[in-house]
Amino acid sequence: MPTETKPATALSIEEAGIALDFLAKEIARHDALYHGKDEPEISDADYDALKRRNDEIEAAFPDLVRADSPSRRVGAAPASGFRLVTHARPMLSLDNTFSDEDVRDFVASVYRFLGMIPDDSIAFTAEPKIDGLSMSLRYEGGRLVTAATRGDGAVGENVTANILTIKEIPPQLPAGVPDVVEVRGEVYMAKSDFSALNAQMAAEGRPTYVNPRNTAAGSLRQLDPKMTAQRKLRFFAYAWGEMSGMPADTQMGMVETFRDWGFPVNPLMKRLNSVEEIIAHYNEIGLLRSSLDYDIDGVVYKVDRLDLQGRLGFRSRSPRWATAHKFPAEQALTQLTAIDIQVGRTGALTPVARLVPITVGGVVVTNATLHNEDYIKGIGNSGEPIREGRDIRIGDTVIVQRAGDVIPQIVDIVLDQRPEGAVPYEFPRTCPVCGSHAVREVHEKTGRIDAVRRCTGGFVCQAQAIEHLKHFASRDAFDIEGLGARQIEFFFASEDPALRIRTAPDIFTLEERQRNSLSKLENIDGFGKVSVGKLFAAINGRREVALNRFIYALGIRHIGETNAKLLARAYGSYQAFETAMKDAAAQSGDAWNELNAIEGIGEVVARALVEFFKEPRNLDVIGRLLGQVAPQEMAAPSASGSPVAGKTVVFTGSLEKFTRDEAKARAESLGAKVAGSVSKKTDYVVAGPGAGSKLDKAREIGVTVMDEDEWLALIG
Ligand code: IVH
Repeated sequence: MPTETKPATALSIEEAGIALDFLAKEIARHDALYHGKDEPEISDADYDALKRRNDEIEAAFPDLVRADSPSRRVGAAPASGFRLVTHARPMLSLDNTFSDEDVRDFVASVYRFLGMIPDDSIAFTAEPKIDGLSMSLRYEGGRLVTAATRGDGAVGENVTANILTIKEIPPQLPAGVPDVVEVRGEVYMAKSDFSALNAQMAAEGRPTYVNPRNTAAGSLRQLDPKMTAQRKLRFFAYAWGEMSGMPADTQMGMVETFRDWGFPVNPLMKRLNSVEEIIAHYNEIGLLRSSLDYDIDGVVYKVDRLDLQGRLGFRSRSPRWATAHKFPAEQALTQLTAIDIQVGRTGALTPVARLVPITVGGVVVTNATLHNEDYIKGIGNSGEPIREGRDIRIGDTVIVQRAGDVIPQIVDIVLDQRPEGAVPYEFPRTCPVCGSHAVREVHEKTGRIDAVRRCTGGFVCQAQAIEHLKHFASRDAFDIEGLGARQIEFFFASEDPALRIRTAPDIFTLEERQRNSLSKLENIDGFGKVSVGKLFAAINGRREVALNRFIYALGIRHIGETNAKLLARAYGSYQAFETAMKDAAAQSGDAWNELNAIEGIGEVVARALVEFFKEPRNLDVIGRLLGQVAPQEMAAPSASGSPVAGKTVVFTGSLEKFTRDEAKARAESLGAKVAGSVSKKTDYVVAGPGAGSKLDKAREIGVTVMDEDEWLALIG
């Protein structure tokens, strides 16, 4: 009987291994045909049969499950050709600190949050911040099953096959490790390996690489693992994701465990007890920096005790228990040849310096931001002189600075190299795109004039409209793959009714308009049949969208991702949100008060919101958009099992067991909303000694009042 027709349980172990090997490759091949080229060779039913066969054999021979097994892959292959992986725990980033002062503030904030007096009793670890790519390695039963890039922190790319070529990463952990282990760390290329690679490239007359980090990133993104294997990549373990058991109770202990399991860990990691020791270690690492065989861009500090890390918890994107102390940015001298003005989504005119190309920190820089009109003049954000008042002129020799992925900046000029006849830069008073007046608004609260000059053209200004569309389709908003800056500029400029996109709803009618027209997108340079198919698929895949993304995508001033999340959580559905914003238009009354009571939403933001919803043009665009897409209701907060999920709590008076910050963070992690003032929407008021007007109001309108102990009993 041929092995294909034998029941899985009747296969010998050799046959099963061969079959799984075949299926992994065959399914991957069909995936590539289907997703990558849009040319499937087999029917969906036949494809499903292959997957089922794979699952059956794996069930019968669990020891043979391969790292690259089709059953391990999640989601569809993105355009890059890698499968997506949803991280079991999000991969966060770190807050940055730049000075000794910032580090003192960080340490003080940790003590403050925990309600402890700074007495050096909290130990911190300090270790180099490796300039590579973060990686999450998932082991099940001791075996490496998935290696994923960070991606957007929630979803990354599955690069398991490539990671398996890195000798420093163990494919198998020693016996006795917890069943599920996710080791996280940095993949990097050693400076020496990078130089050797470049020497070889140069000898072969091929173009050389820019820096180790980009080369490592490029190597990891090779679709063929053989290519990755040729580049020598390395790894340092420093963090973890999901763990079915914890082998240690400190940061240091965890990293020591990883070392014992066979992972490389950084030898410069230390446990320290005071700010002075921390800063001394930072300086020491700074001195060693150039002699290390890997690039680092700072030192990371973490609270050592894991129970304290747990209490400190997270902000939206980064832990409260860690920070990255960055090294000063690298600088270089070059010439400023021109100043161009870019118009942003909200009409801000941003001056951009065009430079004689120069390498700064391993990357060629040709542009740098000049921030705003005052910055060019030598005036800071509060009206204070910067660069001792020196202005920036075309022709100047400038000091360019670049730090990490931040946009390069011009920090100063060399005055005695200023060419004769250089004149002060005249900032335009009109929008370079639409010609409307460009004005500097007066800040409502402070009465100060805004540093940013803005185009008043609004919807008339094509630059604003285009930027708006780019924002709408961008990664954190609708995330429409294949609809990047270039494509949007093309669609926007088109006069053809079957092609043009002027506002967001037009994106969703494009396919329909194409169907009924003879001017076909696929015949246009830069779009092929395959890419058009992918684009429509990407657009249609976003007809249902998370409420916070939808709100963020609207591009309302001051509504970034964090505020969009707060609003989505507070209102739950788009209709409730829009109704509330309209009801709040008069800037008084219940709807207005409730908006302002959302913790994190201040008056400036609240005003921007109601102004946005007063504008008929905005309501028209949204109306048409809602005919095409459905914002999802915000599911009850993740901690739906918790007794306070979805409840609104107000803390007032002094608390004794927690600091206010910790109480708030705890409540939020359990899915509660924490508000600053009491209203009819408040579910609980937790009142400590000294509570005043909020407590009175709660009693008056009949809100449940409890003390700290009752609250603790409630949340368990
Ligand atoms: S800890 C929850 N430690 O820096 C904290 N990160 O800016 C997890 N990085 O995405 C990160 N060296 O890629 C940590 N010793 C180190 C690091 C390190 C480099 C990277 C990492 C992270 C980024 C955050």
